[in-house]
Formats: sequence, C-alpha cells, structure tokens
Amino acid sequence: MADHGATALGAVAPEPAAFGRTVAGGEPILQVRDLIKHFPLTQGVVIKKQVGAVKAVDGVSFDLVKGETLGIVGESGCGKSTLAKVLMNLEPATDGSVRYKGEEISKLSGASLKAVRRNIQMVFQDPYTSLNPRMTVGDIIGEPYEIHPEVAPKGDRRKAVQDLLDVVGLNPEYINRYPHQFSGGQRQRIGIARGLALKPEVIICDEPVSALDVSVQAQVINLLEKLQDEFQLSYIFIAHDLSIVRHISDRVGVMYLGKLVEIGTDLEIYDHATHPYTQALLSAVPVPDPGARESRDRIVLTGDVPSPANPPSGCRFRTRCWKAQDRCTHEIPLLTHPAWLQGLASHDSACHFAAERTVEGGAAGGPGGGAAGGPAGGPGGTDAGGSPGGPAGDPGGGPAGGAPGAGPAVG
Ligand SMILES: Nc1ncnc2c1ncn2[C@@H]1O[C@H](COP(=O)(O)OP(=O)(O)OP(=O)(O)O)[C@@H](O)[C@H]1O
Ligand code: SF4
Ligand SMILES: [Mg+2]
Repeated sequence: MADHGATALGAVAPEPAAFGRTVAGGEPILQVRDLIKHFPLTQGVVIKKQVGAVKAVDGVSFDLVKGETLGIVGESGCGKSTLAKVLMNLEPATDGSVRYKGEEISKLSGASLKAVRRNIQMVFQDPYTSLNPRMTVGDIIGEPYEIHPEVAPKGDRRKAVQDLLDVVGLNPEYINRYPHQFSGGQRQRIGIARGLALKPEVIICDEPVSALDVSVQAQVINLLEKLQDEFQLSYIFIAHDLSIVRHISDRVGVMYLGKLVEIGTDLEIYDHATHPYTQALLSAVPVPDPGARESRDRIVLTGDVPSPANPPSGCRFRTRCWKAQDRCTHEIPLLTHPAWLQGLASHDSACHFAAERTVEGGAAGGPGGGAAGGPAGGPGGTDAGGSPGGPAGDPGGGPAGGAPGAGPAVG
C-alpha cells in the first residue's frame, strides 16, 4: 500500500498507483491524490496579510470506480462539501491532483475543461434554495444545455427535458410549472434531473436527502439507485446519516478535520471499523430495538472538533481519542493497511493503534480503558475489553495506561 498521508505539498505523483481496494474489476474513473484546499485567513482592510489558513481539506486520496458509490461521512465542518466543490472544480484546489479517466483536471482549460466538467455533476442538499424560483422546471433542467448545446440541440431540448422528468418519476406535463408548485421530494427529483441533463458519468451528491422527510428520503435513494443501474453512474454520496450511507454505498470513507481517517467496503467500515473515530460515530447510530439499544456500549466523544485553522499536531483526533498516546502527538498516522490486522479489519485506517472494537465481556473504550495494558509490541488484534495492544515493532510496545478521565463516556 502506497503511503498517502505524508506527501509534501506539491509532490503530486505523475501516474497514481491504485489506491485502496475498489469494486472488483473496476477501473478508476476518478483518482484523487493528496488533495488540499486551504482557505486563507487574512487581516487588514487595505493591505491584506495572510495570517493563517482554514485547512478544510488536507491531503485526501481515494479512487472512484465506474458504477460504484463511495459514501463520505464525518461530523459537520470536517470538509465534506469543500471536498465536493474542489472535485467539481467549483473551488480551485490549493494543491494535489484530481484525474478524470487519467486526465489531470487542474491542468485543463477552455474546451477540454468544459468537456470534463460536463461529466462530473452535483446534486445539492437543499432542493428549496438550489432551484431558481423564477424559472420554470423546463428552464431549470434545460439550463445546462445553454453551455453544452452539443448534448441537446435547441429543437430537441423540450423533448430532452420531458424525457428527464419521466426518468426521475415526474409527469412530463409539469415542464412549465415553477419550483414552488412541487413538494420537497419532487424538487429534489428536479435537482437530480438537472444533474443528469448532460449525461454525466460521475454525480457528487452532497447531503441529497438530508432536508427531506424520512419517507421521501427512501424514494429519492431508490431513484438514485435505479439511475445508477440504468446509466452506469458513479456516485460520491456525502451524508450525515450513517444508515443511509450504508444502504447506498459500496465503499465508505470517514473524514475528520480535513482528512480521510478510514476507508473500506461497507462491511469493513460498519462491521470491522478499526479507527476510534469511526467506532465512536458508529456507536452513536440510533438503534430501533430497545433491547439492543440498552446492551450496546456507546462512545460519547468529549470536547468539540478543534478548529481546522489550528488542527492538533500528529493525529488530529488525539484531543478526543481515548486511546491517544505520546506517539499520537508527534507522528501523523498514515492512511494505510495496518500490518497487524487480518481479514476484514485489514483495510485503510489512519491510526497508530488501529484495532477492531468488540464489546463482549467488557466495556471497550471505557474511560482510560481503551489504551490500558496492551501487550508490549504485540499486534493489536481486537480492542475487546479495552486492550488494543500495540502494532508490531512499535517502539515502546503497546500503549501503556490510558490517561484517566481522557476516555469517552460509555453508556
Ligand atoms: N469559502 C470558505 N472560506 C473560508 N472557510 C471555509 C469556506 N468554506 C468552508 N470553509 C470552512 O471549511 C471547513 C469545512 O467546511 P465544509 O462546508 O466543507 O464542511 P462539511 O463537512 O461539509 O460540514 P457540514 O456537514 O456542516 O455540511 C469549515 O471549517 C468551514 O467553516
Ligand atoms: S490512537 Fe492515536 S493515532 Fe489512533 S486515532 Fe487515537 S490519537 Fe489517533
Ligand atoms: Mg457540507
């Protein structure tokens, strides 16, 4: 596994190696390497001086395969939407590489950039604000044809828009209606139809169902799945709701403070997570069965997410991690396969002490317990009973004695 975490700014590999395990046999359609987006923080009115930067996306790498859905999850402010905008070229990257079918997007301009952009479209969160209330649905969906007339010449546009309305399950007769004449779910269908207008290959969905009723969410998710099969679309699906992400995704990437901390298939992430942050997120997923709810160990993360303008040294999660050790302060954990993990636990995880969390017979990750007394230098195995052990060859062996009171509440 290549080292993707410590590449210096500007060091963009000319030919990226395959990254992570992707859907079997799939060719990467999008290759993202060490992508960085920093928003400068300035001071002064007349003469502006840069005094820092918000590190919204800070070294993100992944592949997206044709026909797959890659879910991206993480707390508010961790950089999901910024990542989406940089991939779409709506925001210029500070550094790093985005390749579409092998072609570096940031190096393109003019007609070639326009051609690539056509193939990557976005569906936004809020169907209320993302549609212009003064335009008819026909004009909204057909607007992209003004920029790309080659996709639907003028005489064919009305028919093309009506076909799209039909594809997303809306009555083609509604072409002259305005957005306020539709429900929230219908409006999101209009947003999806617009996203499909240019026949893209990749659609980035940024919280596409978060503003919708639960019953309508399922309809929109089903529609996205149907369209994926029909048009061989590849999705990047950003959402807060881990259950929805699991339902739709082939693989899932977990973001924390501008970095991907874990990435793998849905089974690897949801049933064999090895990063403490992922484990905490998963432990907070609502469980409908009251019995199961009572018996599980919930990790309640303490403290706020640190500012992306001043992230912690070493591992960015260390200020909230119950397993943190000295090493975590000094050494940035790379997103890589930890050598000591086996089976489905063996997937990309950016943690020096990556280990599965099991809750049988003990409170995994209890206060101070997650890091207590791992066998010196031994492979971690699982995190059962709060004993992760240390990675093989780790100087100092297994993490010694978790900091009392530093762990999350388990309940
Ligand atoms: N244009 C901008 N200028 C300065 N900072 C920005 C800008 N856009 C985003 N940020 C900052 O970058 C960080 C990441 O924001 P982003 O919107 O990508 O988070 P997110 O993961 O999408 O959050 P949410 O789940 O709430 O949508 C935040 O700290 C945000 O304040
Ligand atoms: S154990 Fe260390 S490296 Fe792993 S998530 Fe916690 S702070 Fe980060
Ligand atoms: Mg967002």
